[in-house]
Amino acid sequence: MTPTAAPALPVTHELRGNILLVTVDNPPVNALGVDVRRGLVAAIDVAEANPAVRAVLIVGAGRNFIAGADIREFGKPPQMPTLPDVCNRLETCGKPVVVAIHGAALGGGLEIALASHYRIAVAGAKLGLPEVLLGLLPGAGGTQRAPRLIGAGAALPLMLSGKPIGEQEALKIGLIDRVGQSDDVLAEGLAYVQQLLVDHAPVRRTRDAQALADQATSTAAVTAARADTAKKSRGLLSPLKIVDCVEAALNLPFDEGMRFERKQFLECLDSPQRAALVHAFHAEREVQKAPETRRAQPRPIGSAGVVGGGTMGAGIAVALLDAGLPVTMIERDDESLARGRAHVEKVYDGLIAKGRLTSDAKAKKLARFIGSTSYDALADVDIVIEAVFEDMAVKQAVFAELDRVCKQGAVLATNTSYLDIDAIAASISRPQDVIGLHFFSPAHIMKLLEVVVPARVSADVVATAFDLAKKLRKVPVRAGVCDGFIGNRMLAVYRAAADHLMEDGASPYQIDKAVREFGFPMGPYQVIDLAGGDIGWATRKRRAATRNPDARYVQIPDRLCERGWFGQKTARGFYRYDEGKRAGTPDPDVEAIIVTERERAGVTPRTFSDEQIVRRYLAAMINEGANVIHERIALRPLDVDVTLINGFGFPAHRGGPMHYADTIGLPALLADIREFEKQDPLFWKPSPLLVELVERGETLASLNQSA
Ligand code: 3HC
Ligand code: NAI
Repeated sequence: MTPTAAPALPVTHELRGNILLVTVDNPPVNALGVDVRRGLVAAIDVAEANPAVRAVLIVGAGRNFIAGADIREFGKPPQMPTLPDVCNRLETCGKPVVVAIHGAALGGGLEIALASHYRIAVAGAKLGLPEVLLGLLPGAGGTQRAPRLIGAGAALPLMLSGKPIGEQEALKIGLIDRVGQSDDVLAEGLAYVQQLLVDHAPVRRTRDAQALADQATSTAAVTAARADTAKKSRGLLSPLKIVDCVEAALNLPFDEGMRFERKQFLECLDSPQRAALVHAFHAEREVQKAPETRRAQPRPIGSAGVVGGGTMGAGIAVALLDAGLPVTMIERDDESLARGRAHVEKVYDGLIAKGRLTSDAKAKKLARFIGSTSYDALADVDIVIEAVFEDMAVKQAVFAELDRVCKQGAVLATNTSYLDIDAIAASISRPQDVIGLHFFSPAHIMKLLEVVVPARVSADVVATAFDLAKKLRKVPVRAGVCDGFIGNRMLAVYRAAADHLMEDGASPYQIDKAVREFGFPMGPYQVIDLAGGDIGWATRKRRAATRNPDARYVQIPDRLCERGWFGQKTARGFYRYDEGKRAGTPDPDVEAIIVTERERAGVTPRTFSDEQIVRRYLAAMINEGANVIHERIALRPLDVDVTLINGFGFPAHRGGPMHYADTIGLPALLADIREFEKQDPLFWKPSPLLVELVERGETLASLNQSA
């Protein structure tokens, strides 16, 4: 029998002189799983029992200190000790406990730091309490210790935004005691502990900290945060609970506050919101592992070209510049090129106006930007992203030029929204290099990037697209070629469902309100007004000849467009927009048009409850999502979820449409669709995938493992 190596311990300790050095080594991010928790408690026991130990130093191995609780343990039976117990054990240790932080000290990781007696961090540290992003609140004393250490005014934004801060900011607000001179976290930590010992620094417990002395300021911060959170949290459970916990920290003795926090934490932990947000977290990481990335190496990308400097081309250029790449933009003529460059500059000027960029930084970025009206300028670039008009002939002409000038091995990408990328690829001599990179507007902001994989593309080009997405800090989702890929294809269907509801009796304002109350930031008609009704109108006109004549077609949007009511840019759309206002008001003229159109279509209007509206809207979305998976346009349900959350405003705390479908239950959903099918069998044809899953008694989640 061959001896097997003992598994590496996730927490080790060793004596360094009179300091017990405790190292958390639990790849990939030193999450606080049960073995880490046990290891930390055991290390403190050793420190107290061994008279040679005068202080404890805790560090993390690898790239981070500790990234928080182990998310994989959520929803499973608890295992002792709990994280609050571990933090209490650290805090009550009779010898000074010091943490030295590099990389991420997040969630439970920061709570470990807060429970320790002294804190040092080195450059590049990220300290934060991101639990709210997972539907939770800091549940290992964070809500009680942070306000005591830094005051409620500083603690609340950390917990409510979930955004981490750097070491300098942390020092400024008193979250840490010192910033190391070098980035050698171990050397800095050891030197700091030595210094503390020389100074006879006492054990110093955050539970007894005095930041609360200014009770009035902290109380005011809680009141302000409560009002703000009630307005902004849109159905989320944990933000208001965070405010409650911080208020408890101000008013209750520490141990009572801890009990209060625990109760609130467990309620969040048990909530469907937590399950949905953790699903979204994992899904966002899972989508990055497309099959091609496992079997092919990405091509190196050191420079990029963009063809077209309109809305999308300019946004894509900014995204590429922000990732540090040199960018060459091609336009039709000098005037269009000047406009393209102006679009790029406008984005940076906006950031300067908001104080988020300096003129110097803008100049540095633009130094990497060149424009040209000659394709020859693209001869040496590693990737080109085409963003010209949505017209097959125009795009094929551009690709013919790219085929002529680009070096062998250059990746040739198109940002088309709907066109057949296989046809674009087939039109040139190197289809293996052609791929879809479908950005969303505004391209430098929106996280989603659909990587559209045509039949003949080579695997290393797909791997390159995923690699580039990482550089651009985008969330890439692999999609197959079809009309609209994943997101826009689904959008067309659930928007049609909204139009049907509108013609059947619901007002656009009620539909928008119902959809917003479900958690979307905007309803479908507000989105149309924002993007411009003319875009969809042009597409509808283009497709009029090929539309199935038996399919229901609601003409109300066309009636508005015929009047030139395109939305915000024309001050009228589904809503009216008063001068300079972005929020619209309902328009009686639009309601009158709807009444006339209902009569023309022979529809007797009915009333719908908000709940009925949302049920139909989501049923249409989920049914088409199931079709998209069934046809392998999306690899798994989670790819659809990530697409809708990151590109279409689906509320993350509902987990995406396919996760949500499982929470309502596929049999109930299918029953709804079959009911709607009785009125409109063409539109409401149940997806074969849903039918199959219901027959087998399975969930959509069961398909998430099999990419
Ligand atoms: N638990 C378990 N696994 C985790 C994890 C965690 N807390 N955080 C990250 N991971 C896993 C990821 O799932 C991923 O796994 P995979 O390789 O199998 O896909 C792997 O670690 C690497 O993660 P990333 O791809 O995100 O790596 P990055 O280097 O880009 O980012 C990070 C690292 C900044 C630490 C980022 O992973 C992150 O933000 N993690 C979540 C941090 C967090 O939310 N912590 C709070 C947890 S809740 C809590 O602590 C409750 C407490 O208050 C009681
Ligand atoms: P746009 O009309 O704002 O810009 C197109 C630009 O391409 C113009 O500046 C035009 O001068 C230039 N152009 C046209 N023909 C050219 C040629 N032969 N050579 C060089 N430049 C040329 O269009 P927009 O909105 O930026 O869309 C571009 C592409 O991106 C389209 O395929 C569109 O479907 C897609 N898309 C658009 C989104 C949006 O929200 N606007 C979202 C995602 C994709």
